[in-house]
Amino acid sequence: MSTALEDLIFNPPAELASNANAKPEIYEKANADRLGFWDGLAKELVTWFEPYDNVLDDSNPPFFKWFTNGKLNVSYNCVDRHANSHKKDKVAILYESEIGRKVSLTYGQLYIEVNKFANALKEIGVKKGDRVTLYMPMIPEAAIAMLACTRVGAAHSIVFGGFSSEALRDRINDAQANVLITADGNFRRGKPFPLKANVDKALEDTPSIEKVVVVKNAGNEVSFVEGRDVWYHDVMAKAADYCEPEKMDAEDMLFILYTSGTTGKPKGVVHTTGGYLVQTQATMKYVFDIKEDDIYWCTADIGWITGHSYVIYAPLALGATTFMYDGTVDYPEKNRMWDMAERYGVTVFYTAPTAIRTFMKWGAEYPKKHDLSKIRLLGSVGEPINPEAWMWYRENIGSNKAPIMDTWWQTETGAFMITPLPGITPLKPGTATNPFPGIEVDIIDENGNSVEVGYLVIKSPWPSMLRTVYGDDDRYVDQYWKRFGKYYFAGDGAKRDEMGYIWVTGRVDDVLNVSGHRLGTAEIESALIEVKEVAEAAVIGRKHEVKGEAVCAFVILKEGVNNSPELIDKMKKHVATKIGALARPDDIIITADLPKTRSGKIMRRLLRDIAEGRAVGDTTTLADPNVMANLKDKYADTEH
Ligand code: WT7
Repeated sequence: MSTALEDLIFNPPAELASNANAKPEIYEKANADRLGFWDGLAKELVTWFEPYDNVLDDSNPPFFKWFTNGKLNVSYNCVDRHANSHKKDKVAILYESEIGRKVSLTYGQLYIEVNKFANALKEIGVKKGDRVTLYMPMIPEAAIAMLACTRVGAAHSIVFGGFSSEALRDRINDAQANVLITADGNFRRGKPFPLKANVDKALEDTPSIEKVVVVKNAGNEVSFVEGRDVWYHDVMAKAADYCEPEKMDAEDMLFILYTSGTTGKPKGVVHTTGGYLVQTQATMKYVFDIKEDDIYWCTADIGWITGHSYVIYAPLALGATTFMYDGTVDYPEKNRMWDMAERYGVTVFYTAPTAIRTFMKWGAEYPKKHDLSKIRLLGSVGEPINPEAWMWYRENIGSNKAPIMDTWWQTETGAFMITPLPGITPLKPGTATNPFPGIEVDIIDENGNSVEVGYLVIKSPWPSMLRTVYGDDDRYVDQYWKRFGKYYFAGDGAKRDEMGYIWVTGRVDDVLNVSGHRLGTAEIESALIEVKEVAEAAVIGRKHEVKGEAVCAFVILKEGVNNSPELIDKMKKHVATKIGALARPDDIIITADLPKTRSGKIMRRLLRDIAEGRAVGDTTTLADPNVMANLKDKYADTEH
């Protein structure tokens, strides 16, 4: 009899278990005294300028405060304390660009760069409490810019370089940023991608921006606005090499990161300094089992939360070596990633299921060309990992020995929430297993009762939680706390197996997960109805073998407009211009009707049934049940 992959069990390798940072007592300790557990970690992992008086202030839920009145500086914790120790000459950041430019910065060198850029920021007018937008490639200067912002007490707002100029403009305006940091461009498949040109377009309508700092990276030609734009290397050349770090409160804002929600307007998720620095480090230390000589590579872009927490802040705060690659995964060949993993001697590797499925499709011959035997631990994040991809990852990248840490978390949670621990947890392909010690989650039904299959909630505040939606406390309360009162609702569905393991099944709200990137159906719909031929649009995610979900739009055209390939193309292009290439619809199905309830709500569930070829579910609440048969025919007739 064959065993289904998801029933296989992989015990921790004995050697890893005996040397692991996390021993089984960690769960007992956290269960016995949850706040005491976080208190211990806060004291161990953070260097405080002034101690906090309270671990958690829960007097005004859901506006929780952690480590109240504690004073610290994040750049001090990520750089100074290592630069002033035996780690001074240890490599902090390793970097390689697509065209092969290499940089290696020790903690001592990073210290100087961060101090200088912090002074440069002050010189151009950045003050404590300001917001600075970053629109940058994965270059060391991005890390330096983030750390320099934290040093002077300004919050950064990083906008992923793949977002369009309109998306950039909206995020700058929402944050009211006074400074923007960018680069001339970066290389994609060997060609320079013109970041600065996108910036110039966005800045036509961003009155708050006073200065733009441009890193010379790709060498492509750029236009400069006199008095507004300055080169990074020019301001650095004049900057003094010490800048006193601001004493920040544990609850001061560290950064804003925009993420998609269920309405058209992205939310500015706000993270603060103290709790964030505690939980990101704790999870990195215990889940990735970071040791002095590890070479750690997380493939996420700094434009996403994974890039913030696990490319920059957690690894640097722990004094580890973090590797950054700026480029495409198959340039010049499909073995690029494994070539770098071998050359740099990567020991811990963290990526997303969509990337693993892509590598899987290309075939095992590419990793096989390289010696990946140093990889001792693997991580996965972004969406549920299918057991086939999990097995392929373990066998081909993990040399059939490296445990896979399937880490469930969100932009809002800041750090891992549900994850195995490598020396403790027996693994099953496809499940993130258990809550991290000190984290309390449950699966509940509509009425808040604990069930085996239902909504995933977090039952108590955690240190790295979001504090609000920037400028919109009401939206924070409505979005995350309204549905279940005292529990944080994550937007995901989940089930529990007989071992008590949690299997996250995916979003249950109108949020899509395309290649691990988050998109709101409402955002794409509002872009589509801006096209003048479009009367109405409904967007869903349909299952996609590599991307996880593909964007699928059902569109009603205005009276008298005829469908044509040019029109379909125009709609797809408009979405890409409006949001970014990642939101471009895979399919657009032109239809005369959409399935709606009598109150006019579009039933996206039924559209998903059609797009995924399932028997259509309950249609009794539809205003016009005939709509479904027509739609099915239309879907079958459309190329996809
Ligand atoms: C959503 C959060 C956290 C960094 C990347 C995405 C899904 C994330 C897992 C996982 C199952 C996962 C959830 C979550 N997700 N990791 N290990 N297993 N689902 O951050 O853009 O904030 O998206 O990604 O649906 O709610 P994000």
